[in-house]
Amino acid sequence: MIRTKQPVSFLDGFDPKRGVITQKGHELEGKSIANEIVELPYSVGSTVGTYKIFESVRYGKAPRAFILQKPDPIILPSMLVGIQVKIKGKKKVRKKIYIEEIKGIDNKLLAYLKREAELANAEKLIKIDSAQVAGVSYKTCGDGGLEFVKKMIERKLKVRVMTTLNPAGMDLEKWEEMKIPERFAERQLELINYFKMLGIEPTCTCTPYLIGNCPRFGSHIAWAESSAVCFANSCLGCKTNREGSAKSLVSALTGLTPYYGLHKQEERNPSIEIDVQTKLRNVSDFSTLGFFIGKVCGDKIPIIKGVKKISIEGMKSLCAASAASGAVSLLHIENITPEIKLKKVKPKINEKFSFGKNELKKVYDELNSTEKVDLIAIGCPHASINEVREVAMLLKNRKLKNVDLWICTSREIKKICERKGFVKKIEKSGGMVVADTCMVVSPIEEMGYRYVATNSCKAAKYLPSFCKQKVFFSDIKNIINKFSI
Ligand code: F3S
Repeated sequence: MIRTKQPVSFLDGFDPKRGVITQKGHELEGKSIANEIVELPYSVGSTVGTYKIFESVRYGKAPRAFILQKPDPIILPSMLVGIQVKIKGKKKVRKKIYIEEIKGIDNKLLAYLKREAELANAEKLIKIDSAQVAGVSYKTCGDGGLEFVKKMIERKLKVRVMTTLNPAGMDLEKWEEMKIPERFAERQLELINYFKMLGIEPTCTCTPYLIGNCPRFGSHIAWAESSAVCFANSCLGCKTNREGSAKSLVSALTGLTPYYGLHKQEERNPSIEIDVQTKLRNVSDFSTLGFFIGKVCGDKIPIIKGVKKISIEGMKSLCAASAASGAVSLLHIENITPEIKLKKVKPKINEKFSFGKNELKKVYDELNSTEKVDLIAIGCPHASINEVREVAMLLKNRKLKNVDLWICTSREIKKICERKGFVKKIEKSGGMVVADTCMVVSPIEEMGYRYVATNSCKAAKYLPSFCKQKVFFSDIKNIINKFSI
């Protein structure tokens, strides 16, 4: 039996081929968990971690069982591939679980949802209005994820609610221009085709709320992209747990999720206060605040004070970073986010932290590891129209200096930016607007890149550990000025 008090980030901190924890600085770093019973509090980082666990089953290197401190929708679906999951200290009490909809629901998926409900003490399975499915890039889901999705087709299933997809591992139309390896492209197109067969539109974006998957205030949803989960809970006032990649697909195919965690209003109260004592000047500054919050909050809910104004771009970066360095799925900003303004939540503060100039600088210092850059990558989470416009304006009459530039966004946003002439301006300076994918989930390490400049803490966190890159982290203006003439 292996025990740890530290949460594990399975996407970039676990090698499924060897069954070894690779998370830098983790007390289990270098240790094999293959065929072991592993006791851990919960998981952090990307929600695609589930498929890394699935992958370890294929290599015979999976743990035998997990014992968790509390239900974690990223680890719980391990039960779908035969790994036992228990909650520490929970006695077996089988109670009747009420189900809001039963007609036509697949038996195996229903059995999984009931088991999740049982472990989480949820008395019912509720209907959801929307799903966002993660684990869409072949790089993140691997053959473990691909096989799982294929099995859903063999079961002749179709999604039952509005469902959108996270970014794929390449631009689905311009992958050759991006120099994506052919074998990777083949597997990626196969996977996208499977999703289409399940009735899912290949939207391939982590900002579904910018292209029409924008559920109303109070809706119950099952979203898996961790940045979008935090955005939906915090900004839209929707209710979702931080679902794992496989779990979000199960919910999309059944239209159901167990009623626990952030679905319950009483579980949405903040317990940590963050006092911002420095001016946040741009999106990357908001991202550093998020990175700090994720580290001090883990999976708890903060209330942020001292922020007077924040743009949608600042908000999506703040949410993405706090979900990447920790597992924050909901944050409130005094006088800004809807649930706190409408007095739907009651702060019950038991810890306080200040975020000043020193804390801001510390994050910039921690994430910077190079001055040399061969790729500038903007758009983590996927860029809005405003962000594409900003880059186009900054590049006006300038040329990139021996670097490639990707602005990562959704195909829908790209189309609008094409009509507005922003894409042409960026291309004229030597850059590209890349749709359907991003710098982290595309195989950039196989494409020869080693040094990436970004304005996103989430990208800066995953690029070294998941893509073998060194990072130059700064704001867009500084990056463009430094690497263009
Ligand atoms: Fe989106 Fe990729 Fe960042 S999926 S949040 S752009 S790591």
